[in-house]
Amino acid sequence: MGFCGTLHVPGDKSIAHRALMFAAMRNGETRITGLPRGEDVLSTMRVLAALGTDIVWVASDACLVRGWGSAGPREPNVPLDCGNSGTTARLLMGLVAPWDIHVSLTGDRSLCTRPMGRVVEPLTQMGARFCLSEGTLPLEEYGTTHLQGIEYHSPVASAQVKSAILLAGLNARGETRVIESLPTRDHTERFIARGFLAQRGSAKLSIPRDPSSAAFAIAAAILFPESNIVLPNVCVNPTRIAFLDVLRQMGAHIMVDAAADDGVEPVGTVHVAYAPTLNAVETPAHASALLIDEFPVLALCAAFAEGTSVFRGIGELRVKESDRVRGIIDGLAAMGVRAFVESGATASEDLVVEGCPHLRGACGLVLPRSVVLESHGDHRLALTWQVVALCAEASRVQICGEQAAAVSYPHFYEELIRLRTSLRTS
Ligand code: S3P
Repeated sequence: MGFCGTLHVPGDKSIAHRALMFAAMRNGETRITGLPRGEDVLSTMRVLAALGTDIVWVASDACLVRGWGSAGPREPNVPLDCGNSGTTARLLMGLVAPWDIHVSLTGDRSLCTRPMGRVVEPLTQMGARFCLSEGTLPLEEYGTTHLQGIEYHSPVASAQVKSAILLAGLNARGETRVIESLPTRDHTERFIARGFLAQRGSAKLSIPRDPSSAAFAIAAAILFPESNIVLPNVCVNPTRIAFLDVLRQMGAHIMVDAAADDGVEPVGTVHVAYAPTLNAVETPAHASALLIDEFPVLALCAAFAEGTSVFRGIGELRVKESDRVRGIIDGLAAMGVRAFVESGATASEDLVVEGCPHLRGACGLVLPRSVVLESHGDHRLALTWQVVALCAEASRVQICGEQAAAVSYPHFYEELIRLRTSLRTS
């Protein structure tokens, strides 16, 4: 009756953006396998193609990329539309900064409200010029081959900011150094350290599966009785799997085995089973950047735990694809779970969730009434609410804007349903 079997989640979105960008910077051809087909990664492909990269799909998850290499990107004659993808927009700003070209960057409604000043400021210090109003897209960027390396103390803990500066720094004069206030995901550094750009001739990259996408399936297995799932080939880079430790602290049974290193990223198989009881948890502000994409689904698990959970330092969630703090609080409230924000010690915010373990039953989640859950056009909220629909009586759950899930995990719901029915018919 539970979710049982093996699930192959999509390739890692963060690594895919970087693999495509590094392949674009290389001389020669790169074959990338394990690419996810979510809308964000397609946005990166589209803008790289407009800048002169030749990208051809050669299988459902594989591309051949011929980069611009030392010739540099071509000046596009159309605005570069980054869709919903903050990673595409911010990393791209760093990528084009060291070249004598002008680009116009834009995105969808959500992306055009998100802060870009955090990248504009350091890149301006390096010598690039920008034209934008209110610190948001659309913007004009004028790169320069005279870019200068900097030492930058980043005021926000953001892998996107760090990566934009490092990508620019690769083609700047002198040394570039980024000092982070808190640790963030380190995929860009791994690509650089591996010497991928210096590799001659054709190269191969394989992308491990996405732990942040896996998090939704893991939560469904934890919440739904008799579940037991296996997720092979997941990226288990320590900067990405802090949420597994949080779930373990809550009482979940999660095992990661046979972690191998594919040369760039550690990869492992994740096993997770139903957790009959969940305890409240407290996560410290210094871990917030390492949990940033999993807070919505962690808050969902906390909603059914015994006791009150506190997630400290979650202010950055306000400027994601939507205001995720609001989205989480409203969604949980619709289910009868109280969640609220308290001012944290560091002028940031803490999210408090009062667990309602009585909403868990022998047949999954027991919602007191029919609920309407809003994605606000945000994929991680859409996927979090799909976990609710999967674990409760689905007819009681209506999700507005469910299609936003396609940004990172297009067929999550159907794939999970299959994990349940395959057991019934066997
Ligand atoms: C990402 C970094 C994170 C994360 C986003 C992807 C990346 O954003 O939320 O989904 O690939 O670098 P910030 O580093 O800006 O918090």
